[in-house]
Amino acid sequence: MGIQAVRILDGKACAEQIRREIGEQVRRLRADGMRVPHLAAVLVGDDGASETYVANKVRDCGEVGFESTVVRLDGGVGEAEVLAKVAELNADEAIDGFIVQVPLPGHIDEQKINLAIDSAKDVDGFGPENLGRMCLGLPAFVTATPNGVMELLARNGIATEGKHCVVAGRSNIVGTPLSILLSRNASPGNCTVSIAHSRTKDLGELCASADILIAAIGRPGFITADMVKPGAVVIDVGTTRVADSSRASGFRLAGDVDFDSVAPKCSWITPVPGGVGPMTRAALLQNTLKARQRRQDISNV
Ligand code: GUN
Repeated sequence: MGIQAVRILDGKACAEQIRREIGEQVRRLRADGMRVPHLAAVLVGDDGASETYVANKVRDCGEVGFESTVVRLDGGVGEAEVLAKVAELNADEAIDGFIVQVPLPGHIDEQKINLAIDSAKDVDGFGPENLGRMCLGLPAFVTATPNGVMELLARNGIATEGKHCVVAGRSNIVGTPLSILLSRNASPGNCTVSIAHSRTKDLGELCASADILIAAIGRPGFITADMVKPGAVVIDVGTTRVADSSRASGFRLAGDVDFDSVAPKCSWITPVPGGVGPMTRAALLQNTLKARQRRQDISNV
């Protein structure tokens, strides 16, 4: 095949566009005298990455005109106290949706927390009802990163039908839901999907057969040029903090894809940062707006 120019899938610009659209809808709610969406985030402990993620979510809310609340709990808090906070947020009429930032400290069972969140407020879409509804093609809060990836494909007009898509990583948050979305009879969708994981044999060969390669492993630079088919679309979900003494923060964010060697082979590729990350954040805003719109008291001030 001939050499084609690689195109960058600009998640930052795409997310800005989505925030503008959401901001416009919030202005309309306000103009109609209605209450604006309100997102709450529960942050347990003081994990640096989680602090940054939650701070970004709060900033995004401010930018589009949402209200936001951060609930901070000490890292030594017991599971019962987190569950009590979840129950409180479930019952709080002023909160349209909330998330419990993960990872949680090891002594707290994340699944138990997910099961306790009211599905109508589960804007992360981590709970069984939303995941199940998504599988069935019913209206649901779709997990933010998979939703963001689908938006990125859709808004850039990337054809997916009949393509072989390899999703490397089978997490409940990213790999598993994304593999379902990509295989469903929808647009984007209709891919033939392979899910690869730590026990997959000949992973490199499998990846090299992908028309669309999604890297969601969490190992910086894992995907190298020999694992990529010429002309492939490469989506890098990885955002691992790696030490970098040249930065004031002491780290930089590294994707799962060895960008410099892989990019020249691709038709499209997401950068890290500025690819999937901003789309994940935008997708959470979309879900929160949807949660607000679905509340029965939509006409309340
Ligand atoms: N930790 C990393 N990503 C996410 C996310 O999308 N939601 C929550 N709750 N925690 C996360």
